[in-house]
Amino acid sequence: MSSFLEHVPVLLDEILINLKKFKITNGVIIDATFGLGGYSNAILENTNCDVYGFDRDPEVLKYAHKLKEKYKKRFKFFQKKFSEIDDLLSNYNFSKKKIKGMIFDLGVSNLQLTKKNRGFSFKLDGPLDMRMSKEGIKAFDVINNYSAEKLSNIFYKFGDEFFSRRIARDIVKFREISPITSTTELADIIRKAIPGKKKKIDKATKSFQAIRMFINDEISELNKGLITSEKFLTYGGILCVVSFHSNEDRIVKNFLNVCQGKPKLFISKFLPLRENLKESFEIITKKPIIPTTDEIKINYKARSAKLRIAKRTKVSPLFNGEVAA
Ligand SMILES: C[S@@+](CC[C@H](N)C(=O)[O-])C[C@H]1O[C@@H](n2cnc3c(N)ncnc32)[C@H](O)[C@@H]1O
Repeated sequence: MSSFLEHVPVLLDEILINLKKFKITNGVIIDATFGLGGYSNAILENTNCDVYGFDRDPEVLKYAHKLKEKYKKRFKFFQKKFSEIDDLLSNYNFSKKKIKGMIFDLGVSNLQLTKKNRGFSFKLDGPLDMRMSKEGIKAFDVINNYSAEKLSNIFYKFGDEFFSRRIARDIVKFREISPITSTTELADIIRKAIPGKKKKIDKATKSFQAIRMFINDEISELNKGLITSEKFLTYGGILCVVSFHSNEDRIVKNFLNVCQGKPKLFISKFLPLRENLKESFEIITKKPIIPTTDEIKINYKARSAKLRIAKRTKVSPLFNGEVAA
């Protein structure tokens, strides 16, 4: 399949195969994580569907404009977060086309990772920013102002970082002398705080992921996005979610289990426990789809990707209006 611009979309072939398999050939597909437009472009190229692209990052606008030029009325773009899609779809006067697909390709794009001024990468020397929307608190504010306890909780909760306390303690010690201002400075403090030799995966990886997830409120955003998909997908429509780490994948898996009526599961506060046997989604991928070794060879970023797919049933949404529980 052809890729668009300089981004190699992950598991795209599997998504296109499933769109075909479930006869998603017309109507609207929501690409909730437009990024550089790789998925949107391929869907527009390979189906007769219209695409509504969403992304919170203002820097993707130039890619959205290119797609708009190419596909005109078949493509619309909205600079919005997952948590804003519900409002937009409810209030915007769209055509009566049914929403047949909703796709999430979570995490950061190459565009964000490779620009040092965005501050996402510990490999590039940049400011401590990490805001996808370019608004709200920066990583700098968190790293230089939060208590050791709060920092440690962030590293543990969002990064599963075993050495969260040591890292937090060293950050606080360091900033007593001078503020921590750059990504490389922070990465060095984190690496030094973790005992043991250099590892294959950089020691700063988990903590950087944790700060990014915290800054961008990624868990709550994902929960809201999933609930929106349940509300707006038409009968027979499919939900596809590509995630890159266990925290996200667990949320998707739990959400779909609850939608299949499975009781007694651990669910975040946004997805309250349900004891019903109705199914609003039929799970298509009992086990997530993972990239082939060939895909990983071409695109190393794909190595940890997991794709879960579910098909919307006729049952009314189970989570209607309960996002803020
Ligand atoms: C992995 S990239 C998507 C790449 C895209 N599939 C492609 O082929 O180019 C993830 C994108 O999702 C966006 N994103 C992440 N969380 C979001 C949220 N809560 N709301 C809207 N966009 C979000 C990021 O800004 C980023 O551009």
